[in-house]
Amino acid sequence: MVNEKNRQLLRDKVAVVTGGGGDIGLAMAKALGDAGARIVLASRDRERLGAAAESISVEQSRILTLSVDVTDNEQVELLMRRTVEKFGQIDVLVTAAGIQLRKPAMEFSREDWDSVLNTNLSGAFFCCQEAAKHMIEQKSGKIIMVSSLTAEIGIPDMAAYVAGRGAIKQLSKALAVEWAKHGINVNCIGPGRFRTKMTEDVFADDEVRNSFMELIPMGRAGRPSDLAGLTVFLASGLSDYITGQSIYVDGGWLASGGSSKR
Ligand SMILES: NC(=O)c1ccc[n+]([C@@H]2O[C@H](COP(=O)([O-])OP(=O)(O)OC[C@H]3O[C@@H](n4cnc5c(N)ncnc54)[C@H](OP(=O)(O)O)[C@@H]3O)[C@@H](O)[C@H]2O)c1
Repeated sequence: MVNEKNRQLLRDKVAVVTGGGGDIGLAMAKALGDAGARIVLASRDRERLGAAAESISVEQSRILTLSVDVTDNEQVELLMRRTVEKFGQIDVLVTAAGIQLRKPAMEFSREDWDSVLNTNLSGAFFCCQEAAKHMIEQKSGKIIMVSSLTAEIGIPDMAAYVAGRGAIKQLSKALAVEWAKHGINVNCIGPGRFRTKMTEDVFADDEVRNSFMELIPMGRAGRPSDLAGLTVFLASGLSDYITGQSIYVDGGWLASGGSSKR
């Protein structure tokens, strides 16, 4: 909920959101903007980025969009440099850029495997490293890595994705421990099943949809806006003594331990 008190939480902070043109990244960026932050949206498709920026109810001068491929270190370096040139600092990094490739493990080529892990794991790591160069100088920073409930459970036909999400959880702990002395907090948000562009086809298939809806005690899929409160909390001073944690926003799926809904 946007009100004046919320706007103070991140007043004039600067937040970089990779995957900012996507559904979850955009929702997280909107939440940060509503809490007073200036926003940098970064993903590859310029058209989607432009539409995303226009949908944020923050003065357009407080938003920067940059077309960036997180698998390219030069582009990642440029992203952080341009952010600092425009806004002077980087207070928050959200790593929400990601892809999903669903096929049986036996059919994964090396190229398939690499494409998922280069984006979801290596891309996220090098964004953290590049942002942390600035955060270390500032002696403060908040990094929020988007992982997934698949950091905790296996789902068939998603071997590379599941492996990468488990690795993100561990990476966040490694960085949290290493960078605590620099005043940088690193935490993960793990969405459950959210209805987004990435999962359109999953939701379109009645059989698949029903099979996982059964596992969600709250009886509904996640909406990107469900991530807003936790995003602002982890980006703000309210969470200063929390680091290396993964928090799942999954309607109770993990808590149910796979038992059926009711
Ligand atoms: N939807 C779910 O149920 C769910 C659950 C758990 C976790 N997640 C994670 O949440 C994140 C956002 O996903 P979403 O559901 O919002 O899907 P989405 O709408 O497809 O968003 C994915 C975003 O990642 C960007 N991206 C992909 N490859 C990139 C690259 N190489 N460089 C820069 N940006 C790249 C995409 O933009 P471009 O293609 O324009 O670059 C897009 O902005 C992903 O990391 C996903 O794994 C999703």
